[in-house]
Amino acid sequence: MRKPIIAGNWKMNNTMADTKALLTDLIPLVADANAECVVCVPYTNIYAAGELIKGTNIKLGAENVHWADKGAFTGEISAEMLLELGVEYVIIGHSERRQFFGETDETVNKRTLTSLAKGLKPIVCVGESLEERQSGAYTAILEAQTEKALVGVDKTDLCNVVIAYEPIWAIGTGVTATNQEANDTIAIIRNKVASLYCRDCADNVLRIQYGGSMNPKNVADLMAMPEIDGGLIGGASLKAEDFSKVVKY
Ligand code: PGA
Repeated sequence: MRKPIIAGNWKMNNTMADTKALLTDLIPLVADANAECVVCVPYTNIYAAGELIKGTNIKLGAENVHWADKGAFTGEISAEMLLELGVEYVIIGHSERRQFFGETDETVNKRTLTSLAKGLKPIVCVGESLEERQSGAYTAILEAQTEKALVGVDKTDLCNVVIAYEPIWAIGTGVTATNQEANDTIAIIRNKVASLYCRDCADNVLRIQYGGSMNPKNVADLMAMPEIDGGLIGGASLKAEDFSKVVKY
């Protein structure tokens, strides 16, 4: 069925020294975890992180990837570069990238297609603003984000896709969606995928995480909801003890 997946999103945090200290502490704390445990780290730390977690149950992730194989794209990183360092997962279309770096549904789709073609597992982020939540527009917006991200994705690849539902108003704010809100909104996304592909793949294969101020205190209740298959964790992934508690909810 759908194995829970807890992924840390370090964002632009942690120097090399921080990375070594955090992962050294984290490795033993999550060694007996039942959920799949992933750390998505800044590019500069990927090599060191990969060396540290070799032979452990922690998987390596990046925070973005370009869609082209190679070429004149100053500042960008290709799938091949990530794969060479042992990266398995890559976050795509985080709301911070959409908000501050011009990421669009179209570029999210391109990055998703390239990831899958090359053998990286995309963690595709969707989410609505507070205004969109309050106006009720969020359903249509999340359905559109989901559909546009998945254009051209083959049904057989859905097992390699993770969707992260992250309400923008809950990211880094300390405000979490209620368990019911998170669950019901993820159901909307899952139903959209069912209508695009099939009920069976949406229900049995596709994993959908919740993200937005998930922490050791609220994780158990969120994870008890039937639609929620894991979490994308920002702030609480920066401390080994907190993150391990989330991973072992
Ligand atoms: P947060 O971030 O856990 O700090 O709210 C989540 C995210 O942005 O992925």
